[in-house]
Amino acid sequence: MTYLSLENINKIYPGSVQAVFDFSLEVEEGDFIVLVGPSGCGKSTVLRMIAGLEGITSGNMFLRRDWINDLAPSDREMAMVFQDYALYGNMTVYQNIGFSLKVRGDPAQEIHERVMRISEVVELREYLNRFPKALSGGQRQRVAMGRSLAKHARILLMDEPLSNLDAQLRQQTRRELALLHHTFKSTTVYVTHDQTEAMTLATKIVVMNEGRIQQIGAPYEIYHSPANIFTASFIGMPPINLIHGYVEGNTFTGLDNDKKPVMHCMLPQDIAVTDIVMGLRPENIRILQPGEQKANDEHLFSATVENLELLGAEYNASLNVGGYMITGRIPAREEIRPGQRLEAVFNINRAHLFDEKTGLRLGAELT
Ligand SMILES: Nc1ncnc2c1ncn2[C@@H]1O[C@H](COP(=O)(O)OP(=O)(O)OP(=O)(O)O)[C@@H](O)[C@H]1O
Ligand SMILES: [Mg+2]
Repeated sequence: MTYLSLENINKIYPGSVQAVFDFSLEVEEGDFIVLVGPSGCGKSTVLRMIAGLEGITSGNMFLRRDWINDLAPSDREMAMVFQDYALYGNMTVYQNIGFSLKVRGDPAQEIHERVMRISEVVELREYLNRFPKALSGGQRQRVAMGRSLAKHARILLMDEPLSNLDAQLRQQTRRELALLHHTFKSTTVYVTHDQTEAMTLATKIVVMNEGRIQQIGAPYEIYHSPANIFTASFIGMPPINLIHGYVEGNTFTGLDNDKKPVMHCMLPQDIAVTDIVMGLRPENIRILQPGEQKANDEHLFSATVENLELLGAEYNASLNVGGYMITGRIPAREEIRPGQRLEAVFNINRAHLFDEKTGLRLGAELT
C-alpha cells in the first residue's frame, strides 16, 4: 500500500510566487526518495509541505488512508533535518540526540543504547558531552542528523543534511546513511542538489526543475533512459554531450553553434522527427588505437585533443570535432597529448535522442 501520497500539489507563496506545480508522488514504505534539482526548483518547499510546515495551496496529501493536508506537524510523526539545522543550545550532544526519546518517556537504558548507536553512525562519540556552540558547522549538522535518526519517526525528512560536511566526511556519512537505510528501511524523503547523493542513496529519484517534476525513476533508469533533455544534462558528471541537428531518413547531421554541419551519422532506424538533439555520454566516446577498425554499430570521427583533465585512471578529454567541443571520458594514457589529432568512435546504439522542440526523449528507443 502507498505510504505517503501527494496528488497534484501546487504551492503559491504570498506575492503569487508559484514554487511547485502539479506535483504528484507515491512513496512506498521503505522507500528512500531523493528530490534533486537546481537551486530554487522547489525541493525544500515540497519537503516542508510534507512536514506540515508549509501550507498546500491546492492538491491532496495522504498518509496511509488519512488526508493530512491540515494535520499539525507535531501529529505527523515525522522527523526532519533542516537545511539550516537548529539544535537545542542548552543541551549537550547526548541530550540533543536523545531528546525526543526522553519526551516520549522511553526507559533510560533504551535511550542510552540508541544514543550510543546513533552517535557512532554520525561519528560523534567523542563529543557527547559538548554543547553545540563548541562544535564545528559539520559537527552540528551531524548532531541534527543524529537527533532525527534517533527519533521513532514514520517518515524521515532530510533537507541537504550533508551540505556542511567536508568532501571526505560527506562521502563517509553518505555511505553510513545508505547502510542505515539497508538496516532499518526507514521511509525517507531526502532533498539535495548533488546528483551523486541522489544516485547513491535513492530507491527512487524525483528530478525537479522550476517547480515541476521532470522524471521519477530508479537511479539506473534516470541515468540510462532520461525522459528529457533536462534530466539527461542534470544527471551525469561530466555532463552528457548534446549535439543539435536534423534527421533525414536515418541520417543524423550534427550542427555546430553556427549551424554548420560537423558530423553525419547513420541511425539504426528511421526517425519521424526532423529536429533532434543527440545526447552522448562522455563514457560512450572511445579512442581508436592505431590500426584498429571501428565496429559496425560505431560512428567514426576525427578530433583534436584540446584539453585533458586527469582524474587518476581516466581523463576528461575535451575533443574538438570540426569546431564543436565534446567531452570524452577515456583511459589516461601517457601518449595522449593536447593538440594531438586522433580517431574516435561512439556507439550509436547508446546515443540518446530527443525531440528538439519538446525536449522529450524520442519514443522509438534505441537500445
Ligand atoms: N517563504 C517564501 N515566500 C516566497 N517565496 C518563497 C518562499 N520560500 C521559497 N520561495 C521561493 O520558492 C522557490 C522554491 O524555493 P525552495 O526553497 O523550495 O527551493 P530549493 O529547491 O529548496 O532551492 P535550494 O537548493 O536553493 O535550497 C524559489 O523561487 C524561492 O525563492
Ligand atoms: Mg532548499
